[in-house]
Order: sequence, then structure tokens, then C-alpha cells
Amino acid sequence: MRKFAVVLALAACAVGVAVTTGSAKTHRVAATQANQLEVFSWWTGGGEAHGLQALIKIWNKNNPTTPFKNETVAGGAGSNAKAVLAQRLAAHKPPDSFQGHAGAELLDYVKAGQLEPIDSVYKQYGFLKVFPKQLVSQITYKGHLYSVPVNIHRANILWFNPSVLKKNGISVPTTWAAFMTALSKCQDAGLTPLALGEAWTQMHLFETTMIATIGPAGWNALWKKGGNWNSAGVKAGLNRFKSILDYTNTDAASLTWQDASKLVADGKACFNIMGDWADGYFRIDLKKTPNKTYGWAAVPGTSGVYDWLSDSFTLPKGAPHRDAAIKWLGFLGSKQAQDTFNPLKGSIPARKDANPKLYDTYLKWALQQWKTDKLAGSLTHGVVAYPAWSTDVSTAIQLFVQTKDVNSFQKALVDAAKKRAT
Ligand code: GAL
Repeated sequence: MRKFAVVLALAACAVGVAVTTGSAKTHRVAATQANQLEVFSWWTGGGEAHGLQALIKIWNKNNPTTPFKNETVAGGAGSNAKAVLAQRLAAHKPPDSFQGHAGAELLDYVKAGQLEPIDSVYKQYGFLKVFPKQLVSQITYKGHLYSVPVNIHRANILWFNPSVLKKNGISVPTTWAAFMTALSKCQDAGLTPLALGEAWTQMHLFETTMIATIGPAGWNALWKKGGNWNSAGVKAGLNRFKSILDYTNTDAASLTWQDASKLVADGKACFNIMGDWADGYFRIDLKKTPNKTYGWAAVPGTSGVYDWLSDSFTLPKGAPHRDAAIKWLGFLGSKQAQDTFNPLKGSIPARKDANPKLYDTYLKWALQQWKTDKLAGSLTHGVVAYPAWSTDVSTAIQLFVQTKDVNSFQKALVDAAKKRAT
């Protein structure tokens, strides 16, 4: 009898209900340990959380005995989350699934032996047919697949406030020269010409400036073995980066990406260069209207180029609830999940068969652009460089922001490539 009571208690604990044993002891164990799905991301703030919350709602409805445990660490671009995750992985305490960017960032986890291949998930759900080949190649290593992409974001967007531009007689610039003139006009009008935020947003500005200068093919080549960081083109890009920094706010380092974007929405700044997660932020958090109270264009000089990145989710080795994680990955790749998440997040779906009717004005435009644009891989968001290389570049940028010494900056980038290109 006693033995039966203990077994009963254990079984009940596993599903998270209360039970009274023969010894009249009550065990109430929340459903947290036995059955749950722990998902790790950095989607907490404005423009970030709504899409995830909508997915959580569907998940919890469909999986009442496996509740979603939302393990988020705040900080845009994973600036804090990635460090926390690295500690957890080193301590062999992985979540069930974590966010990682398709491309070099994801492959770094793979090469470190931290991920399980998920070929069977792709097979079960027919994912190979629904994701673009080029994207699949960025999550494949030695013939095996390692993550499910939920979206595609575009990094090279120039956001502006149409009425501020109109009031100051500024038209939307499409060339770098016109951009400089527009920034100078904003400065004369007493506005912040280009709103900038913390360190990673500075790298984001660096990357889009470089792509505007050397083009997508030149940019992509820099990250391959033998990429020429010593070129005149690179130097021209660094000089442009130097000039554009003069038009940014002095408190950049203390602002989040949302703070910087909000300066534009509030009419205090003319422009902000940010990824299209800003569309979700303007539209959903700030309740702005596309083409009326916020507007966008490709970063001047990058029309026809999609500086792309993709958020994807993984199956870490030793995931505590592996079956739930596999189910989550299947769900994430579904049409329902992608068409729920992306209209809120400000990204286009990774799937090729999503329903464009569900997407708002900016995203309808982005869906079109994705079909025809040339691709450049994002540095700041994990596509072209693995973390150690990206950290070297970030360190060089932070130093440059202080010194404005173009020659030393270029040398640091050349050295980083020598050390890191594989
Ligand atoms: C990117 C991420 C986006 C968005 C952005 C700002 O790295 O891929 O989904 O969250 O950071 O935090």
C-alpha cells in the first residue's frame, strides 16, 4: 500500500497535481520540472515580445500539459542573452531550444558540439520544400540541418518621420551624397540628424555603411578567406562611417535601439538606421501609421540589396524536455506559427508559402523586395562572421568611435580577418 502511494505521488508530481499519500503528506509540485518547454531568446522589449507572446498563447492552448517557460534575457541583438546562454551551455544546463542566427553564429554552436542535428524534424514536416535553398544552406553543416528559421529580417532600412522631413524641406535620400546633405539640413534645423544607440547598433550602422560603399558582393567577399580588408573601397567605407558618426547623438551609448527609433517617432531626430524589427515597434508599440507617421527606404546606396538575417531555433544537446523541443521546432516552422509571429515582429516569414494578405504595408513591400534583391549577409546579426570575429570587429568599432583614426581602424580589421578567416 505504502509503495503504491509513493508511486502515485511521483506520477502525480510529474503532471503537476496535488495528491495525498498514505502518510497524509501533500505534495504539490508545479508543472515546472517534469513537463514544460523552456525556450531561450532575447525577445522582451518593445517590438520584440508581441510575436513571441502570440506563439506562446497557441503553444499553451495546444499543449496544456507542457506549458511554455519563457526564458528571455533582455537586450537587443542578444547583447546580454548570448553571454548568459554561453554560461548555461558551458555548465551543461541548456534550455530546450534557443534562438540563434542562421549562418556563422549558428554554425559556431554546431562546431562546439552543442547542438543536435534535426534532419528528422525537416523530414517529418517537409521543411526542405518550404524554406528558401539559400537559407537552408546557412543552417546546414556537413549535410545535416541544425535549426528551424522562423523569419527573415532586413537590416538596411532607413526609418524617418515624414512630417519632420516635409517641414524641413528634406526629401528621402537615395544616394550617399544626398544623405549627407539631408543630415546636414537636419543639423541646421536643430534636430538630431541620425539617431543612434548602444554598441551593437553602431556595428549595425557600420555594416550598412560598408554595404552602401562596396556593394553586396564586395561585402560578402570580405568574410571569406582572402577577403581584402586593405582595399581602397574598405577605406572609403570607413571614411564614410567616420563622417556619419558626426551626425549622431552624443548619448548613443546609453540608448537602446528602441530609444533611438523613438527619437524619430517623436520628431526629435530625422533618421534612424535599424533592422525591420523597428516596423513592429513603430506600428504595434508606438501605434504609428505606416507611410503617415513613420516612413522607410533602403539605406541610401543599398536599394535592391537585402542585408538579411534570420532568427532560428535549435535543439541543444541535453535539452531537458527533448520531445517537447522537437514538437516546438515542428510548430515553429508551420504556416500558422510563421503567419502569426511575423506580422507582429516586423519580419517576413522564412516559409515561401506564407499568406501576404496578413502582412501590413511595410512587410508587403519587404516580401516583394526579398524576391528580387541581391543578398548581403548581416555581420551584427550573425550571418557572415562567427562570434569571435564579430567581437574583434566590435572592439575595433568601439575604439574607432573614440579615436576616429581610420588607418588604425582599418589595420585592426585587417588583423582580425587574418586571425579569424577560415
Ligand atoms: C536581432 C534579432 C531580431 C531582433 C533584433 C533586436 O539580432 O535577430 O529578431 O530581435 O536583434 O533585438
